[in-house]
Amino acid sequence: MSNVQIMDHPLIKHKISYIRQENVGSRDFRAVVGEIAALMCYEATRNLKLQDVKIKTPICETVGQELSGKKMAVVPILRAGIGMVDGILNMIPAAKVGHIGLYRDPETFEPVEYYCKLPADCDEREVFVVDPMLATGGSSVAAIQMLKDKGVKNIRFMCIIAAPEGVERMTKAHPDVDLYIGALDDHLNEQKYIVPGLGDAGDRIFGTK
Ligand code: PRP
Ligand code: URA
Repeated sequence: MSNVQIMDHPLIKHKISYIRQENVGSRDFRAVVGEIAALMCYEATRNLKLQDVKIKTPICETVGQELSGKKMAVVPILRAGIGMVDGILNMIPAAKVGHIGLYRDPETFEPVEYYCKLPADCDEREVFVVDPMLATGGSSVAAIQMLKDKGVKNIRFMCIIAAPEGVERMTKAHPDVDLYIGALDDHLNEQKYIVPGLGDAGDRIFGTK
């Protein structure tokens, strides 16, 4: 069963409320999306395994701790997921980056694949799939299936805003994937936009509208 964690950190709540506002322009929107991703990364990596390691400080020898598990990869769902990558790489600079390109068909709202490029050893890595928006769940369910088809077994999904409909679809389709959600919103409207949401994340990050 998926572990669904909704962020309760005051800084994350504050920053999400800021980017929801329609008068926030692309430059600020992009910057704060990156900050939220970095803070969420901190929460989403809380249960990573550590091992003891002998280290030598300028004063003496001692035992420290280092990450012991698998190497990591970040996989944004294009386009909007790109806005979260740098914030995560600031926390995990050694992570590799893959890209999955999907867009929602404007009539069926189902995802259409147009790109997939992953690190060669992706199946040996702990993969963080990132997308600011989990609406119907079509895009994220499809992206995670593409990773599983390539043999990836350890997958976490991070989004800034989710609709209950998307959470339900994701947890049913991929019960082995843990979800880290910045804010859980109320519902989807007729155009399958999240309410209250923040509008079209890709357009707001890249200034395309
Ligand atoms: C948005 C968003 C997600 C998807 C969420 O992308 O970034 O990928 O919609 O909706 P879903 O849960 O109903 O699939 P969009 O398709 O608008 O593409 P873009 O990022 O290129 O703007
Ligand atoms: N994609 C977005 O960018 N925003 C929504 O509210 C739903 C899908």
